[in-house]
Amino acid sequence: VGQNLIKLSEVDSTNNFLKVLVSNSEPLTEGTVIMADKQFAGRGQQDNIWHTEPGLNLTFSIYLKPSFLPVGKQFLLNMAVSIGIRNALQRFVKDGIRIKWPNDIYFGHQKMGGVLIENMLSGSTYKSTIIGIGINVNQLHFDSRKLKSATSLKEILQQDVNLIELLAEICSHIEKQYLQLKAGGYSQLKDDYVRGLYKFNEPAVYRQNGEVIEGRITEVTESGLLGILRAGELRHYNFKEIEFLNN
Ligand code: BTN
Repeated sequence: VGQNLIKLSEVDSTNNFLKVLVSNSEPLTEGTVIMADKQFAGRGQQDNIWHTEPGLNLTFSIYLKPSFLPVGKQFLLNMAVSIGIRNALQRFVKDGIRIKWPNDIYFGHQKMGGVLIENMLSGSTYKSTIIGIGINVNQLHFDSRKLKSATSLKEILQQDVNLIELLAEICSHIEKQYLQLKAGGYSQLKDDYVRGLYKFNEPAVYRQNGEVIEGRITEVTESGLLGILRAGELRHYNFKEIEFLNN
């Protein structure tokens, strides 16, 4: 991952750019990375906009071909990517980096990064996947009207971090997890994912279809459902059904 690196100064979205490359007839090497200094239409999950100050942060997309991955187990790829990012960031920040389900990167109760995975299926196999990653690195000011609560590596470390060094670290850790996925190391991935999960096994409050519920996260399934144990009963929720409260 990252051997073939294309650096752009400005683009709408690195995910969009990669999508166009993938749909062109010329074959693209798996592991190709597109990074940009500035995105003018960066996209987040659930049709959100991804805001980031130009030149200060990491915004990049990785091209993968996980055709070995059975449909229904697609979330294992999200797990591999989030673990890879967390492991890479832990080289810079020892404690406190967590994965917030499904794949936000948190430090304490603040968001430091996000992942937008877009799959292109051919029948029932994953033909191509675009992994879009945004990490707040050297930005210190976040617009509180647009964002819930955000932080960056610089805010935590009180010093600048070299973007290319961090990119290389993230790529190599994602590659390691991706190879583990390819080799079928599912249970290890699931263990590592929950080990790094924000609010795992902690009593917490969530909003589910307008109702506030209290419970603990006890698992995340291979298809990406969040398992919450509530009054002795384990229920599973998808991304649209449940929202974290109190952060
Ligand atoms: C989220 O937390 O909602 C996901 C954010 C993903 C942002 C990255 S930045 C690089 C790539 N290109 C995009 O347009 N989005 C992703």
